[in-house]
Amino acid sequence: MKATAITRRGGYDAAEHARRYERVARLMPRAEWDVHFELVAAVEALKRERNAVVLGHNYQRPEIFHGVADFVGDSLELARRAAESTADVIVMCGVRFMAETAKLLSPDKIVLLPDLEAGCSLADSITPEDVRALRRQHPGVPVVCYVNTSAAVKSECDACCTSSNAQLVVESFGAPEVIFVPDEYLAKFVAANTKVRIIPWRGHCEVHERFTGEEVREYRRSAQAYVLAHPECPEDVQEAADYVGSTSGMIAALARERPERAVLITECSMADNVAGAFPETDFLRPCNLCPHMQRITLAGVRTSLERLAPAIEIPGDIAVGARRAVQRMLDVGRPRGA
Ligand code: 13P
Ligand code: SF4
Repeated sequence: MKATAITRRGGYDAAEHARRYERVARLMPRAEWDVHFELVAAVEALKRERNAVVLGHNYQRPEIFHGVADFVGDSLELARRAAESTADVIVMCGVRFMAETAKLLSPDKIVLLPDLEAGCSLADSITPEDVRALRRQHPGVPVVCYVNTSAAVKSECDACCTSSNAQLVVESFGAPEVIFVPDEYLAKFVAANTKVRIIPWRGHCEVHERFTGEEVREYRRSAQAYVLAHPECPEDVQEAADYVGSTSGMIAALARERPERAVLITECSMADNVAGAFPETDFLRPCNLCPHMQRITLAGVRTSLERLAPAIEIPGDIAVGARRAVQRMLDVGRPRGA
């Protein structure tokens, strides 16, 4: 479709389409952006009709992140947005644990996840029975779970956390030791920054565990790139990086450092999404895509808003415990510097 063919008025129109193109101009040719016009316009119309808000994780496809998301961010920011939302419908453009967290915080709203198969290898790495077994092995020790867990696992834990606030949540118990599940590398990242003894689990993210320290050292050696890594990466990757933090922490670090050349050691849609905000930075792009995040498409968002399905439901007994764990995280407060 040519840009000149776009004439829709009243709602999402050609002028707005052109305005949003500025956010993605470094990523895709105008002709590719124009292909998304009809779907973006349909989603915008459905959002008004349904009084819906679209939350988009930093790993979403650019046409979702820049095209239809009302709010974007890391897991913690999306959880906060879900808690504050006054919309009737929340569409989670992210993965299942994020949609479940939104539902826990907005039980009276319809929470849509356009593809229920959008899971997470970390969430799949631990069951509620695993948590009960850990409690039997370590009686009286508080259990903190990463937000990348099912609602059923959260309901067995004392608090949940994200990569933005993991240390704060762990230290909030004032306990000498804490069980931290399921991400082994995030657990080690927390352990390196706190006096609390951390008892980890051996879950890994299938995207981040593929990076190696050697790869990171090579980016620094050959390209003199500023390296930002997610704490779901293995320890040698974290050690070799200039900055380690959540997806939004990385954006804040880029804004502070304004490097000439940078590499984000994380899911690769992220560099696409943030490149527009840092025109002076040249992003090197190793590409490890999260297959679960990729399941969310513009067409899927439109269909879910049309049908108001698939909607997230959490059984009442699980919801009570899981909500307590998520609420405790939100009550602990924002991380310093975020
Ligand atoms: P953030 O909370 O840093 O956005 O991370 C979520 C995630 O799933 C990273 O793989
Ligand atoms: Fe889960 Fe890893 Fe995908 Fe994040 S990137 S949603 S941790 S599988």
